[in-house]
Amino acid sequence: MTTHLTRDISKIAEALKFGQTVGIPTETVYGLAANALNEQAVASIFSIKGRPTSNPLILHFYNLEQARPYMEEFQEELHLLEQHFCPGPITFLVAKTPRVPEIITAGLPRVAVRFPSHPMLRTLLAELDFPLAAPSANKYGSVSPTQALQVKEQLNGLIPFVLDGGPCSFGLESTIVGVEGQKVVIYRLGSIPLDDISVVLGYIPEIKNQTSASPLAPGMVKFHYAPNTPLKYFDASVRAKEGVGYLFYQNIPDGFPHLQCTVLSQGGDLREVARNLYRSLIEMDAKGFQQLYIEKPEPMGIGLTLLDRLNRATAKFE
Ligand code: TXA
Ligand code: MG
Repeated sequence: MTTHLTRDISKIAEALKFGQTVGIPTETVYGLAANALNEQAVASIFSIKGRPTSNPLILHFYNLEQARPYMEEFQEELHLLEQHFCPGPITFLVAKTPRVPEIITAGLPRVAVRFPSHPMLRTLLAELDFPLAAPSANKYGSVSPTQALQVKEQLNGLIPFVLDGGPCSFGLESTIVGVEGQKVVIYRLGSIPLDDISVVLGYIPEIKNQTSASPLAPGMVKFHYAPNTPLKYFDASVRAKEGVGYLFYQNIPDGFPHLQCTVLSQGGDLREVARNLYRSLIEMDAKGFQQLYIEKPEPMGIGLTLLDRLNRATAKFE
């Protein structure tokens, strides 16, 4: 089987109804989707990714209304965030009802739900009478693809189709939130910056995304989002060297050969850096460099999320 890129939404809907697993675009990163109520189809997500079944999956719905039967509750605080940011790149961890298959939540008491904004995905979700389970469409531990062709490069022959929705507009995974006591807690920093969430809530939510023996979001493993080529932070002491690749945010410093460099945002906009980061990491990874360097972001706005991903990606090589 070769994997085909298509823009035909009905074809993808058919494949999903038949229990197939396909690549789908979202505004964050591409997903590897299946009918969440078909346990066999969901099981194939884990085998295709090479992901442990102890790591639960997010359910994607058209809107909150459609998700109600799967949730015991949807707290006021979450409602506030849902009204501000949905459809969009935020995921809610809420108590699940028995309707959610065990394989989705890996036996955990809560289920992750999200209402994506990508227009083609929304058309698809509106055509289906089941939610889509979808992790990012990368092999376990690798960099998440943000364009259809990069899904095909990672999963060629393992899935029949990728719905080609163009490049993802955010480029980093959704922000995962839940409620503990009366307060919102962040379990994964993501495409909606912490600052934006704090403004809506009127307080700064606690971030609980550290690696531990039994993580609340098991995907927050320490080594993740990493290319195969060793990746380190760039600093002023790093000199240009043959066979080494460099990812800069805006300007290439003097003395660095442009052929060995990638610029993540011509305009120096951190959101553009976020949008381009994974695509550029995958591209630079494929160029055969023995070492990659990337600038360290300032921990402000979306920079905090970038820092989270890059700390995990570089930790593998420390
Ligand atoms: O932007 C996104 O959220 C993308 C797109 C495709 O929607 N999806 C995504 O899924 O990033 P994934 O599986 O790569 O990451 C989901 C994270 C994992 O760390 C997982 O452990 C956590 O969410 N998670 C999912 N369900 C959970 C649950 N019931 N309890 C705790 N953590 C959960
Ligand atoms: Mg992932």
